[in-house]
Amino acid sequence: MGRTVGVIGLGAWQLGADWGEVSESDAHATLQAAVDSGVTFIDTADVYGDGRSEQIIGSFIKDKPQLTVATKMGRRVAQEPGNYTLDNFRAWTDRSRANLGVDTLDLVQLHCPPTPVFSTDAVYDALDTLVQEKRIKAYGVSVEKVDEALAAIARPGTASVQIILNAFRLKPLERVLPAAAEAGVGIIARVPLASGLLSGKYDESTTFAANDHRNYNRHGESFDVGETFSGVDFATGLEAVSRLRPFVPEGATMAQFALRWIIDQPAVTVVIPGARNQSQAHANAAAAELAPLSAETHEAVTAVYDELIRPQVHDRW
Ligand SMILES: NC(=O)c1ccc[n+]([C@@H]2O[C@H](COP(=O)([O-])OP(=O)(O)OC[C@H]3O[C@@H](n4cnc5c(N)ncnc54)[C@H](OP(=O)(O)O)[C@@H]3O)[C@@H](O)[C@H]2O)c1
Repeated sequence: MGRTVGVIGLGAWQLGADWGEVSESDAHATLQAAVDSGVTFIDTADVYGDGRSEQIIGSFIKDKPQLTVATKMGRRVAQEPGNYTLDNFRAWTDRSRANLGVDTLDLVQLHCPPTPVFSTDAVYDALDTLVQEKRIKAYGVSVEKVDEALAAIARPGTASVQIILNAFRLKPLERVLPAAAEAGVGIIARVPLASGLLSGKYDESTTFAANDHRNYNRHGESFDVGETFSGVDFATGLEAVSRLRPFVPEGATMAQFALRWIIDQPAVTVVIPGARNQSQAHANAAAAELAPLSAETHEAVTAVYDELIRPQVHDRW
């Protein structure tokens, strides 16, 4: 899409809902901390807090032309391929433009639509029309599965693919990242901390608020279970984290180590950790300053994945 962004961005799902309460003033402080730390890319969606996340960002970004805001559309209606029409795209992007207070959206992503949508010519034609109409500057997709990513990468107008990529989700390394690099498509790595598991701060006694998806979506009750702890069983995740902890570089946190592991992957454009407060936003941005991890550390991550995580996730997404 022709915009240069810092390698650590900010995921703004937390600033809407589904993660327990985050007040508007905390949300603004988190955004400010991220930008003060060098973040130039913010990821949101029309459905986060049913527009609250977009509105908070909209009031924040006025007079900050250095920021690129990516939003997503399509999950406020029934998940049926027939809903992915030009008329709906116009209505959805008009709502996001109003929420964000901009004439033209920087980047709009299809928000994990049903799989057939990724292979529908009319969908890409409609997205091209949105660009011609200057409703959007560029479009991309957010996907659950690698085959969906590959289908979108094959389309010439696709600017970006957002996919789960972290030390507990290695499958995109096999085909998606090489295909994206070859096609010049940006990779937005989401759920980089496996919903916080890879921060290393949880233990067996950790609980989450009733309105936090890490409580109510543990088994995929509300949306794809891969979005909660990256689809890894909580106890298995804790065990994997304990095995990785010795490889955290001196002076870095486990979360920064996890983010650095992603930055080390060729073809990653931007990593979008979700932050719920200022200190998380600062600490995450600082991961870009860490030295690349050693080959030995990368091998250790792969070994832990192969033994503990792969059996649970590799063939699912
Ligand atoms: N379908 C989609 O397209 C889709 C789906 C999911 C996410 N996303 C996007 O991806 C972004 C990132 O994914 P995510 O937010 O789901 O998961 P994530 O970034 O893997 O995890 C976020 C959680 O990690 C913890 N955390 C963050 N920074 C930390 C730090 N420095 N130290 C300690 N803990 C830290 C916080 O947990 P606590 O709350 O426990 O403090 C935070 O809520 C989202 O915000 C959203 O923009 C998109």
